[in-house]
Amino acid sequence: MARLQDRVAIVTGAGQGIGRVYVERLLQEGAKCVIAEINAELGERTAAELRAAGHDCLSVPTDVASLQSCQQMAERTLAHYGRIDILVNNAALFIALPQRPWDEFPEEEWDRCMEVNVRGVYYACRAVVPAMKRQGKGKIINISSTTTMLARPLRLNYVTAKAGVIGLTRALAAEVSGDGINVNCIAPGLVMSEGALATYPPEFFERFRNLQLLKRNLQPADLAGVVVFLASDDSDMMTAQTLVVDGGLIMH
Ligand SMILES: NC(=O)c1ccc[n+]([C@@H]2O[C@H](COP(=O)([O-])OP(=O)(O)OC[C@H]3O[C@@H](n4cnc5c(N)ncnc54)[C@H](O)[C@@H]3O)[C@@H](O)[C@H]2O)c1
Repeated sequence: MARLQDRVAIVTGAGQGIGRVYVERLLQEGAKCVIAEINAELGERTAAELRAAGHDCLSVPTDVASLQSCQQMAERTLAHYGRIDILVNNAALFIALPQRPWDEFPEEEWDRCMEVNVRGVYYACRAVVPAMKRQGKGKIINISSTTTMLARPLRLNYVTAKAGVIGLTRALAAEVSGDGINVNCIAPGLVMSEGALATYPPEFFERFRNLQLLKRNLQPADLAGVVVFLASDDSDMMTAQTLVVDGGLIMH
C-alpha cells in the first residue's frame, strides 16, 4: 500500500522546479495533489500533464502573499477533495531575487521577499490549519535553506526570510501541537533545480560538491523522499524540527 494513499496535499509554487518534483512523488505515494502556483498557466499545464499520466491532481492559482488567495486555495481544495492532510510551503522568491550588497536592497524588493517567503508561509498555514484541526491531524512542511546556516553574501533578504521560516516552524508547531498538527521544516543545500541551473555556472555546483561529504550535487528528487517522510505517519512524533538535506555540508 502506498504511504500516502488518498491523503490530500497542497504544494505551493509547484508549477515547475523542485515543487513539481514534490507533487510527482506525493502522487506516486497515493496522494491527491493541489498545485498552488502564482503562474496560473504554468500550474494548469503541469496539472494537465500529471492528469494525462493518470494522476489525481488539481491546479489552484494562488498568490501565497495574499491571505484571501490562500483562503481560496484551501476552500477550493476542500470543495474538490473534501479534506487537507498535507501542506508543503515550497513557494518562494529565490532565483528571481537580484543579489546585492547588504545595504543596497530597495525597500520594495526587501518587502516583496518577506511577503512571499515568510508571510506567504504564514498565510498558507493559516488557511489550512482549520481543516486540519477538524480532522484532528495534519502535516505542514516548510522549506527553508542552508543559506541560513552558511550566511552567503549578497542574499541578505533571502537568508533573513528563510531564517524566519525556521522560527515560524517552531512557533507554529508549539501552537498547533494540541490539534494533532505536525510542523516541520527542510533546509536544502544547493539543488540542481531548473532555476539554479539557469543561474549559476558549473563551477558553482562543483564548489558545493567538493565541500559536501557526499560528492554529488543534490537533485530535486533527493528532497522528495524527505517530504514524503514528513508527510507520512512515520514522522508522527516529530515536530518543530528542521532537517538539513545538503549532502553533508552543514553538521546540524
Ligand atoms: N534550488 C535550490 O538550490 C534551493 C536551495 C534551498 C532552498 N530552495 C527552496 O526550494 C524552493 C523551490 O526552489 P526552486 O529552485 O524550485 O524555485 P523556483 O523559483 O524554480 O520555483 C518557485 C516557484 O514558486 C512560484 N511562486 C513564486 N511566488 C509565488 C507566490 N507568491 N505564490 C505562489 N507561488 C509562487 C514560482 O512561480 C515558481 O514556480 C524554494 O522555497 C527555494 O527557496 C531551493
